[in-house]
Amino acid sequence: MSYRKLFIFFNLAMLASFIAAFVLDYNADWKKHQKEYYRQASAALERKAAAASDPEEKKALLAEAAKLKRTPLEIKQIITKDLGRVDRCTTCHVGMDEYVNPSMANDFTKNPFKAHPNAAVLNGNHPFQKYGCTACHQGQGLATTAKAAHGKVMHWEKPMLEGKLIQASCAKCHANFETLKGAEVAALGKKLFNKHGCQGCHSIRGVGGIISVDLGDIADKPVERIAGYNFDRVLKLDSRTGKMEKLHHSHHEDEWNIQNWILGHLTNDPIVVTPNDPFAQFNPEPVAPSGMPDFREELGHSGAEAITAYLMSMSAEQLPHRYFVPAPAKPEPRFANNLEHGKHVFEKYGCQGCHGLGGVKGRRNYNALGPGQEDPKKDMDKGQEPTLVDVVGTYTHEELKKRISAGVPASAVSKFNEKGPVPPLYMPAWKDKIKGKELDDLASWLLSIAKKDDSGF
Ligand code: HEC
Ligand code: HEC
Ligand code: HEC
Ligand code: HEC
Ligand code: HEC
Repeated sequence: MSYRKLFIFFNLAMLASFIAAFVLDYNADWKKHQKEYYRQASAALERKAAAASDPEEKKALLAEAAKLKRTPLEIKQIITKDLGRVDRCTTCHVGMDEYVNPSMANDFTKNPFKAHPNAAVLNGNHPFQKYGCTACHQGQGLATTAKAAHGKVMHWEKPMLEGKLIQASCAKCHANFETLKGAEVAALGKKLFNKHGCQGCHSIRGVGGIISVDLGDIADKPVERIAGYNFDRVLKLDSRTGKMEKLHHSHHEDEWNIQNWILGHLTNDPIVVTPNDPFAQFNPEPVAPSGMPDFREELGHSGAEAITAYLMSMSAEQLPHRYFVPAPAKPEPRFANNLEHGKHVFEKYGCQGCHGLGGVKGRRNYNALGPGQEDPKKDMDKGQEPTLVDVVGTYTHEELKKRISAGVPASAVSKFNEKGPVPPLYMPAWKDKIKGKELDDLASWLLSIAKKDDSGF
């Protein structure tokens, strides 16, 4: 080919790519949405005008409709300097743009055209033109396709918080979220976290147990740190079918995020999520599966979701002061007597995380001793922590205090199968945390729940 022909060829190729870019841009999703919004919104105004009897009102409505129709299509963005965000969500969600829709109300029933729900409270207290959208919703503010903006793409660390999980962001800014209207689900999550004894094994910013990770910044955990886990078997509530379903195969990468990782620990037996290597197939020594209890029955899906909303607020992100709402001072809890106080101590430190609610049924401790064990391989998962109501009656008050203070180190927890893995859970020594009246009353309460044995044993 001569240079001249090449030159013509490349010019034509360039022209073609310009045309392609132009066509793609012209047909961009956001443009279609914006056009449609202006078309429908102005048609609604025209209908209103046709029905209006006052000629002045009719004229005003028609003028407004004409103005909407003439509005040029453009990328809209809200820049929140101090939150470090640029949010283009209103490019498609036009009905949520106060400049286009000053009343922040409309009759649209479909996204992205709808007005914002509960705008009086949400926009009223956090003007969207100042707060943007992702401060509450997460997602990818700069993106201009729906999938990318909603953050449902691989490697985007902060996908949009689904459904009630959005309350995680309320709790990030509002230390008063336990009494805040609109944050009830996150508040319930905090209650359930403590009630079920998560703090027996996990700390939150240094407060709580040391068996597993500190969850104080779990929302920041990089997705790549969980990428290797077995999520083929993780179930999640499907909002369309209302059933627990596997994460859809073709959506694996988009669905594998921290929200689902936390939810996956609570809506599955954690052994499924973190099976490890109990039969030493891949390691020189066997490694017990996750020591985390199976909470499915106790929490149900709504409880799991509430705790997830609460934990998704756990971020080390520093908010500028003026976005932070402090918590009111909490009154010291009062107790009718020392037994009631002892029960409170038991729950406060999360003993129930391992010994069950009220100490009535020890939870699983893989390959520890447990009831009904026969087959050395199959029955390792019948290992249990002690059921306190059955055993504390054999202790005196003083002995009980000593046992709780000293704990039982991992090396002293008896194995069921000698060749199997070390049981994942042990009894922490509480001597630095529980002392004086707390320890006394805890021991008294434990003795009070001991089963009275009338079998003569
Ligand atoms: C390119 C257009 C587009 C952009 C940009 C966009 N959205 Fe959307 N959004 C849509 C469409 C279309 C729907 C309805 C269909 C769907 O749910 O995907 C929707 C739905 C939603 C919903 C409802 C989801 C549900 O489960 O019902 C929320 C919340 C939302 N968007 C928030 C945002 C936020 C926050 C941003 C900015 C980070 C954003 N959107 C940016 C087009 C967009
Ligand atoms: C102060 C927090 C907050 C801010 C800021 C915020 N939202 Fe929301 N948004 C919410 C809450 C809460 C809901 C309701 C969630 C629920 O209960 O389902 C919601 C719901 C939505 C929905 C779903 C509406 C429906 O009924 O289907 C969309 C879409 C949406 N927001 C988009 C936006 C966009 C776009 C912005 C920015 C212009 C924005 N939001 C700013 C808190 C916020
Ligand atoms: C980026 C930080 C931020 C986020 C996220 C946020 N808020 Fe707020 N909110 C504030 C600030 C700051 C105020 C103003 C407090 C004041 O001056 O009294 C406020 C005020 C309020 C108020 C009125 C005052 C009150 O305490 O009753 C309500 C209600 C409220 N927010 C609810 C919510 C809900 C619900 C969410 C989650 C959907 C949410 N907020 C998310 C920062 C935030
Ligand atoms: C008996 C101890 C124990 C209790 C009680 C417990 N966990 Fe765990 N948890 C673990 C262990 C061990 C792991 C690490 C192995 C794994 O990922 O399953 C873990 C992991 C997690 C993870 C993943 C952390 C990360 O960084 O990847 C979350 C989230 C979690 N637990 C939440 C909870 C919640 C919520 C509760 C209370 C309902 C709870 N845990 C109660 C032992 C416990
Ligand atoms: C991380 C799990 C875990 C937590 C949290 C925990 N324990 Fe234990 N506890 C154990 C294990 C495992 C054993 C049994 C060790 C062994 O094999 O002897 C045990 C044993 C005991 C025993 C002795 C039972 C017996 O069989 O003689 C008492 C009493 C006890 N725990 C009380 C408590 C109290 C009170 C708390 C809260 C302050 C607590 N535990 C918190 C795991 C835990």
